[in-house]
Amino acid sequence: MDSSISKLQSQLRELKASLKNDINNIHSLIELNQRKEKYIGKKSILVVILEKIAKLPSEGKAIIGKEANLLKVETLLLFEKKQKEIANKLLEEQEKNEVFDITLPGKQAKLGHTHIITQTLWKCEDIFQKMGFEIEYPYQVDDDYHNFESVNIPADHPARDSFDTFWTDDGQVAITHTSSMQNRIMLEKKPPIRVIVPGRCFRNESTDPRHEHTFYQIEGIYVDKQITLSDMLGTLKEFFTAFFETDLEIKFTPDYFPFVEPGGMMSLSCIICNGKGCEVCKKSGWLEILGCGMIHPNVLEMGGLDPQTYSGFAWGFGLERLIMLKYTIEDIRHFHSGNLDFIRQF
Ligand code: PHE
Repeated sequence: MDSSISKLQSQLRELKASLKNDINNIHSLIELNQRKEKYIGKKSILVVILEKIAKLPSEGKAIIGKEANLLKVETLLLFEKKQKEIANKLLEEQEKNEVFDITLPGKQAKLGHTHIITQTLWKCEDIFQKMGFEIEYPYQVDDDYHNFESVNIPADHPARDSFDTFWTDDGQVAITHTSSMQNRIMLEKKPPIRVIVPGRCFRNESTDPRHEHTFYQIEGIYVDKQITLSDMLGTLKEFFTAFFETDLEIKFTPDYFPFVEPGGMMSLSCIICNGKGCEVCKKSGWLEILGCGMIHPNVLEMGGLDPQTYSGFAWGFGLERLIMLKYTIEDIRHFHSGNLDFIRQF
């Protein structure tokens, strides 16, 4: 055999022996990279040998070439194996030294939060429940009888104009107020009746900073023997004081709703200027907040209650209006706008 081939063969054998020895003495990734450079780097002995083989005359080249290439593959595999070994060992050590603190708070993804309308709804429900009221939710689409007829608004009544809304083809109505539950509540429950009805309402009207086609109301009814207007004023004052967490005055001015007699508008002393007069209360010191009154005898009768024995009061207020006052929000249309900058403030 050509002397240069046998020389290369013995170089390969030496290389293989020293590689196995060296590999066993590697303990870190830095050492591993250094050795890798030595054995298969650009200037490594193996590369030099491969270059020499390439220059050999064809005779005998195939065998030594194969040997050298096998060694190259073997070297790569050995380094790969070693690298995995070191990585696993590092991981094991890290886990062993790691202190697992079960008292650390978990990482929370940003999942969003409850809309200000729902937050406020819950708060109102909570206050009324503490005052002894039950909660009933309305149907969002109801029949003419419950939204209108049973609350003393017959088909040709002019009050229907102020409750214009959306109708389905078969004559069902998107409720204009949560008074739509009054009749059912009176028929289903026995006095004393104390119920609030929070829910979504609809009106077919052009929108502006104070009007939306979709909004929330909280209706309330209270029926028992000898219930008077002062019970109503006391109940509502109690609620608003708890809601705004401040002492306030209330005022009742006569107004007309077909389902109450007498009916009125209740105002609160302006919570922004304390009744002194500001932009929000239009310098009057008062904020009109809800419609209310003593339940009309016709409505009691349709609800199966004798007006000679029972009396009661009802009210309905817009939830958004309450939130607008609490946070001085100038436009009701923000609530359903889907504007995240607005929503994330609460
Ligand atoms: N339902 C009335 C409205 O939507 C509010 C109201 C309820 C007034 C109960 C009086 C009594 O405007």
